[in-house]
Amino acid sequence: MTSEPSSPTGTDPLPGPPPGCPAHGRGPGGTHRLHGPDAKDLGGLYERLRDEHGPVAPVLLHEDVPMWVVLGHAENLQMVRSPSQYTRDSRIWTPLLDGTVKPDHPLMPHIAWQPICSHAEGDEHQRLRDAVTSAMATIDHRSVRRHIGRSTQALVNRICERGRADLVSQFAEHLPMAVMCEILGMSEEYNERMVQAARDALKGTETAIQSHAYVMEALSRLTTRRRARPEDDFTSHLVTHPARLTDDEVREHLRLVLFAAYEATANLLANALRMVLTEPGFRAQLNGGQMTVPEAIEQSLWNEPPFSTVFGYYAKQDTELGGQAIRKGDGLLFAPAPGNVDPRIRPDLSAGMQGNRSHLAFGGGPHECPGQDIGRAIADVGVDALLTRLPDIRLACPEEDLRWRESIAARHLVALPVCFDPKPQQDVDLPPRLMPVPPTRVDRPAYDDTAPGALPKPAPVPAPVPPPTPPRPDTHPTGFWGRLLRWWHGD
Ligand code: HEM
Repeated sequence: MTSEPSSPTGTDPLPGPPPGCPAHGRGPGGTHRLHGPDAKDLGGLYERLRDEHGPVAPVLLHEDVPMWVVLGHAENLQMVRSPSQYTRDSRIWTPLLDGTVKPDHPLMPHIAWQPICSHAEGDEHQRLRDAVTSAMATIDHRSVRRHIGRSTQALVNRICERGRADLVSQFAEHLPMAVMCEILGMSEEYNERMVQAARDALKGTETAIQSHAYVMEALSRLTTRRRARPEDDFTSHLVTHPARLTDDEVREHLRLVLFAAYEATANLLANALRMVLTEPGFRAQLNGGQMTVPEAIEQSLWNEPPFSTVFGYYAKQDTELGGQAIRKGDGLLFAPAPGNVDPRIRPDLSAGMQGNRSHLAFGGGPHECPGQDIGRAIADVGVDALLTRLPDIRLACPEEDLRWRESIAARHLVALPVCFDPKPQQDVDLPPRLMPVPPTRVDRPAYDDTAPGALPKPAPVPAPVPPPTPPRPDTHPTGFWGRLLRWWHGD
């Protein structure tokens, strides 16, 4: 689940279907490229493909490798939920077997089979996935949410006095790394260099290989340490799981979890904040209490799923999907972005999807994302705490100036410049709501996603007043502050 390198090949004029590739409904391929000039607006291209071919369309990848893209909501679900017909193991993919896909193909990082649960199936998938999900089940969600709150406070402290920030590079790309380093058991590795390395490795820049090596060295050190002396963290539970993962398997799964979580959640945070800042309807609904932060996050997962497509599913036998004849060995892109806007399930895209979690952002079937609760928690708590600390935050450029970096796998906001009235720093151990707040705010329990309410109105910040002095943890007062502080400290 990495972004493909951003150096698309094949920008020459389209000569028609490549040799050996049956086009126009007779096989994957066709005449539309998902890269180069054709792909300036992939969302628009998917809609043209839907009109032309229906819910499953033939497309060309880099170097004109044929593929199907699954555009329909039902067809995407049908594919991911049919492990007897489709596998994530690329070793049966015809273009790989017949040499059409060369070892240096730019999408190889996505395509090449690896010994990780995302590419495994059957018993082997179960063995690896059990280890991952069991390790995840040991995560204490209350303390993770507290850590997300503290990390958000620390990040806001870095920007609050300046009154300006870029929420992509200074917030969305940091928070998931801070949280994942803590969950994995390497909080000491979380720093600017680690964030840069992950960002770099995923962007496929010139220094991507060194950056990837930097992250892998940290994960190797962690694996060795926990093998020698397990503690109570995700990595230790992975190491000691009865599935008896080798050191390589542990390291590869740490890499999968770290990169998948980092990229997807950074994207989700940026998309959700962009939506709140630029779409007046959302801000108004949040302020008025008709929408909660978790609902806004869910709406963002519908409208802009962090992974637009996922490479790849491969047909194990001749079959049919969405009216297309799929042959054994064909490759198909699982595609949450077009699937989520399928007109058969969303005839009116402006209609809110509150209460409906049937989007495709987390996949489905045996490979459905096991980390979705963590991804949601980072986004819910992070966005809520940020907006609470900076209630007057607003976009610092015209909306038309926002830029995206688009690839087949994901669409990333390049920057989200914002401004707000400068604010004082705050003790990271205090909940954001202990800050001075505008009198118009709507009160609600902090960070409670079972009963969340409205966000404070983006009103001018009143003259600073000192926040209440927190009592010592062992002398919590009774009443509201006592309950709040006991909750905050996890007592
Ligand atoms: C907003 C955040 C996230 C999104 C949108 C997301 C999305 C996805 C998607 C689309 C898949 C592939 C499903 C398929 O192949 O059908 C996936 C798989 C996976 N995700 Fe996530 N993910 C997110 C966060 C996380 C987090 C926080 C973790 C770990 C803590 C994680 C760990 C994984 C793993 C291990 C897999 C592979 C599962 C398997 O193949 O059995 N993800 N995710």
